Amino acid sequence: MISIVNKLTKYGVKIPNMDILLSCIRSTSTSTRIDTVGVIGLGLMGHGICQVAAVSGNHSSVIAFDSRKESLDRGRKNIESSILKMVSKGKISEEDANRNLKSIVYTTEISDVANVDLVVEAVIENMDLKRKWFQKLNDICKPETIFASNTSSLSITELAEASNRPELFLGLHFFNPVQMMRLVEVVYTKHTNTDTFDKAFNWVKSIDKEAVKCGDTPGFIVNRLLVPSLMQAMQMLDRRDATINDIDLSLKLGAGHPMGPLHLADYIGLDTCYYIVKGWSERYPQEPSFVVPHCLKEKVRYQHFGRKSGKGFYQWYGEKRGEPVN
Ligand SMILES: NC(=O)c1ccc[n+]([C@@H]2O[C@H](COP(=O)([O-])OP(=O)(O)OC[C@H]3O[C@@H](n4cnc5c(N)ncnc54)[C@H](O)[C@@H]3O)[C@@H](O)[C@H]2O)c1
Repeated sequence: MISIVNKLTKYGVKIPNMDILLSCIRSTSTSTRIDTVGVIGLGLMGHGICQVAAVSGNHSSVIAFDSRKESLDRGRKNIESSILKMVSKGKISEEDANRNLKSIVYTTEISDVANVDLVVEAVIENMDLKRKWFQKLNDICKPETIFASNTSSLSITELAEASNRPELFLGLHFFNPVQMMRLVEVVYTKHTNTDTFDKAFNWVKSIDKEAVKCGDTPGFIVNRLLVPSLMQAMQMLDRRDATINDIDLSLKLGAGHPMGPLHLADYIGLDTCYYIVKGWSERYPQEPSFVVPHCLKEKVRYQHFGRKSGKGFYQWYGEKRGEPVN
């Protein structure tokens, strides 16, 4: 209902007493609705998740938490400038933008998420750290709060068990940049109850994303298919089967991919690729597609992380890709 109202206003339909109407809809909705959301970690992913939740107009508040003041301030700046850009491009009205921005509460106090209906965790990719945060959240949050992790590569089951509320736990895997990428993988474990899954799945749709359902398999759907294919391309380099340029050109022109696998790996970050596949290969040594290619290990050893460090499989000049580095 709220998204219908938002769409009408987006297309210029004037609705009198909009704030009163929205609050009536919220108060008459059933308990299956997620009214308040907390986002833990306001980095690259977390600020995007906060923004799309706020822009959906579906929530009475979105609590944006980061334990580090500088990350919180950076996340806030990114959200504000991105929403202002949406206004200047005519994607949302100034009135909606102001209402959306007002619905976000920025905080470094974890106790401020105590009463939210859904927590989405987006701190750095570290199992011990995430486990600690979920244990803390379990102590703080109301018993019915649903917990979700945005992890790309860690086991949702392991996090769920650490949280002490495994039946209310699932993965919500957004893609970067969150504002642009439509997909969210909704990941269930053997513990996740149906009600939790359905609420989270419907929440994803309510914030204008496309939801897909997936079991707790390493990499879920997208990365399980994508990461091994990047590793295969790197192994081709290790074996000197083909050059960087020819591998990338082949997948672009022969398979219709928007960019080649080595170009994409530079874009994702070679350190990120390395830690994902290293973790998987240690956890699943019997899986032949989880291998760490020699060239990847070497690039990471010399801190050639791709686009973000200026050098990877290619030279990078800011956002511009240069010549291949052999
Ligand atoms: N970057 C991607 O493309 C991408 C895509 C999908 C999922 N993810 C996942 O999202 C999560 C966040 O990734 P990101 O790229 O936004 O990372 P990021 O480095 O941009 O942000 C991480 C956040 O964690 C916070 N943080 C750092 N150390 C902390 C600590 N000790 N305690 C609490 N908070 C701490 C930082 O302040 C920051 O806000 C990871 O689990 C990652 O796997 C990333």
